[in-house]
Amino acid sequence: MARKKQEGYLSGREARRISRENRRITNAFEKRRKRKNVPESEYRTTMRDAGNAVEFDDLHTCFFTDAGTVKAVDGVSFEVPTGKTVGVVGESGCGKSVTSLSLMQLLQRPQGQVVSGAIRLNMGDRAYDVTKAPNEVLQQIRGNIVSMIFQEPMTALNPVFRIGEQINEVIELHDGEGRSEEDVKARTLELLEMVGIANAGGVYRMFPHELSGGMRQRVVIAMALACNPRVIIADEPTTALDVTIQAQILDLLRQLKDRINSSIMFITHDLGVIAEMADYVVVMYAGRVVEKGTADDIFHHPAHPYTIGLMASKPVVGRRTDKLYSIPGKVPNPINMPDYCYFKDRCEMCVAACSGAYPAQISLSDTHKVSCWRFHGEEERS
Ligand SMILES: Nc1ncnc2c1ncn2[C@@H]1O[C@H](COP(=O)(O)OP(=O)(O)OP(=O)(O)O)[C@@H](O)[C@H]1O
Ligand SMILES: [Mg+2]
Repeated sequence: MARKKQEGYLSGREARRISRENRRITNAFEKRRKRKNVPESEYRTTMRDAGNAVEFDDLHTCFFTDAGTVKAVDGVSFEVPTGKTVGVVGESGCGKSVTSLSLMQLLQRPQGQVVSGAIRLNMGDRAYDVTKAPNEVLQQIRGNIVSMIFQEPMTALNPVFRIGEQINEVIELHDGEGRSEEDVKARTLELLEMVGIANAGGVYRMFPHELSGGMRQRVVIAMALACNPRVIIADEPTTALDVTIQAQILDLLRQLKDRINSSIMFITHDLGVIAEMADYVVVMYAGRVVEKGTADDIFHHPAHPYTIGLMASKPVVGRRTDKLYSIPGKVPNPINMPDYCYFKDRCEMCVAACSGAYPAQISLSDTHKVSCWRFHGEEERS
């Protein structure tokens, strides 16, 4: 009896009930996704602003686990303008990767499901809501319109195939129509040269283990760019590399983005990288966007206590400190989120209203938005 009362403890009966319930919910989602010949009208949509490449609109993504439902992304809205880089920051587990995987629709199935909200993707002549698109359409979108650069190049490459074969395959699969074998090879060599590999012909015949980490990451970037995608998701693309190679890869990404005029959604915990790369910054905390704005808004006028804490915990060249600031406490349990501001228990700037409901987003300027009670007027606070 005593064990039952412990927090987080589930009896066998309870666990079975949860897993039965989960199966019922996820089966319904899966069935919907696997339908054939879905009319385009079901997933066709219009962009709120034609200048955006992607619009996340109140996205909710959950994992239906046996221990309960994890609200990994809980009402996220932000946009990625065409030709710009949007940096997404926040500490580990705040939902950055789940947001990007929702756009690619590559969540771990069947547990991971987008339960509500929209992700509008601008495809030039039309726009699709990827959360409603069936599998057949998503296969056309992945690689051609949106592509992803993963964190660890060794796991993104297949160790038993030569580099050339792996890039050829991407081209054949997505852009192969009407191309001869020589054409495909020529395109692969061109891509390898484009990402700054000097000995393209040699690397074409090599296996991934024969390359250094930096070279492998370049190969992964070449694969991601093979079909000139409109949106590139870079999920911590440089964390596995040392700083000099990191700087080269960031430079490369910047140049390539301008060359094919795509947008980048850049995910990282490294604020230094964000400062260098991003035009806009989105700060996430516990599955929600707590603050967003231009890089200047976020770096020079951070408003949310969490962003202020992040800025204070960043080392600055030329400033002597004995100890770097660290934000006290830890992220709340994602299965059991509080009904007040998620950051309240760690916040050092609370006002009376913080014990009330989760704060609505408020505009500090046209570009700068924050969800914090400190910026709400007196009348709303009470
Ligand atoms: N397959 C899964 N099953 C259950 N929960 C998951 C799964 N994948 C992610 N989550 C949960 O979703 C939340 C968000 O995870 P996510 O991977 O997006 O974090 P992140 O911000 O990318 O962190 P990091 O900086 O460590 O990469 C976490 O609470 C995590 O535990
Ligand atoms: Mg991640």
